Amino acid sequence: MAQYQVGILGGGQLARMSMIAAHQLGVKAVSLDPDPASPAAQVGPFIVGSITLPEDIAKVMSCCEFVTFENEFIPASALREACALASFDPANVTPRIETLEVIQDKLTQRRALLAHSVPSPRAVPAADARELGFPCVLKARFGGYDGKGTRYAKSEAEYLSILGEIDVQQWLAEEFVSFNRELAVMVCAGPTTSCFPAMVTEQKNHVCDLVYGVDEEDTQERATKVAIAAVEAVKGQGLFGVELFEHPDGRISVNEIAPRPHNSGHYSLDWGGTSQFEAHILLTLGIFGAVQKGKSTWMANLLGQEGAQDYAKALAALTEKHPEARMHWYGKAEAKPGRKMGHLNICDDSMDTAARDAFYKAWVNL
Ligand SMILES: Nc1ncnc2c1ncn2[C@@H]1O[C@H](COP(=O)(O)OP(=O)(O)O)[C@@H](O)[C@H]1O
Ligand SMILES: [Mg+2]
Repeated sequence: MAQYQVGILGGGQLARMSMIAAHQLGVKAVSLDPDPASPAAQVGPFIVGSITLPEDIAKVMSCCEFVTFENEFIPASALREACALASFDPANVTPRIETLEVIQDKLTQRRALLAHSVPSPRAVPAADARELGFPCVLKARFGGYDGKGTRYAKSEAEYLSILGEIDVQQWLAEEFVSFNRELAVMVCAGPTTSCFPAMVTEQKNHVCDLVYGVDEEDTQERATKVAIAAVEAVKGQGLFGVELFEHPDGRISVNEIAPRPHNSGHYSLDWGGTSQFEAHILLTLGIFGAVQKGKSTWMANLLGQEGAQDYAKALAALTEKHPEARMHWYGKAEAKPGRKMGHLNICDDSMDTAARDAFYKAWVNL
């Protein structure tokens, strides 16, 4: 018998919330991160090591029955090597290594979607951007997050100037989408497929800011269908966050697939139904049933602020003035401006961000 049932590669907030869910379910889990004080290490067993080193991943595999991850940046080759080192069955990695491999290169991901007729912006290697015309979007094929690795080329001149700053082999170019809204659907691909509701995700400076439910039935249905098709296109098993564009004419296309819990699903910690982290753990064990729906709940991210001070004081101010807000804090050592530090969930239809404002105000001592 392995010491742990689930090994989570990574130690950030997604690993932390997955660890808490595992604990609640009575599933023994362990995380992997170079920092012994990582957000996940603060809430449960951990192994200190790198998520990109086969030897360190193998340490996790050696003591776990099943393995999953919290981001798509672990090279598929490192996972395969780790499986060989630890004599670990690759079928016990969820999502599958083959799926991760397709997703972690945004160009092969786009090609997989288009090959399966899933609506998605046309993409080519960055060197061929002229085929698309301008404006277009240039993206790092590997490792982008929170808009780091996304550049807009409005004209050929801008494109040429960006080319001077990037390694063109490592970038793609894709059609610019003049979207109406950005949506996201969490897909649970287990013994059966079941989805969380489609959510609107509002970004500020390319970082997710607010998440709330899509009201229109018809949009819910169509977004869900496209998201499921996207996950099928990459032969997905496990939990996936599918980011979508809603076009001005109502059409829905896929921006990208995240093979893991996703910021757009954080509200589910407090909606009274299945949480995405519970789903993630159960899907990793291969025993998921179906998403149980809860009440309408929205989420506001809490980002690091210039001059941020005492968290405890800010929490006190929040709870005193806004008892309706549920706090989720990730325990990151440094509140660098823009870094995701926590989020608030509010189980209500109103979209009043006064609770977040009050928190920030107390946090930066305004
Ligand atoms: N083709 C596109 N057209 C217009 N905006 C885009 C396009 N692709 C991405 N964006 C914008 O940039 C953001 C970040 O891009 P994304 O591919 O999701 O990268 P990340 O990995 O940083 O989340 C998206 O949420 C969206 O707002
Ligand atoms: Mg994205």
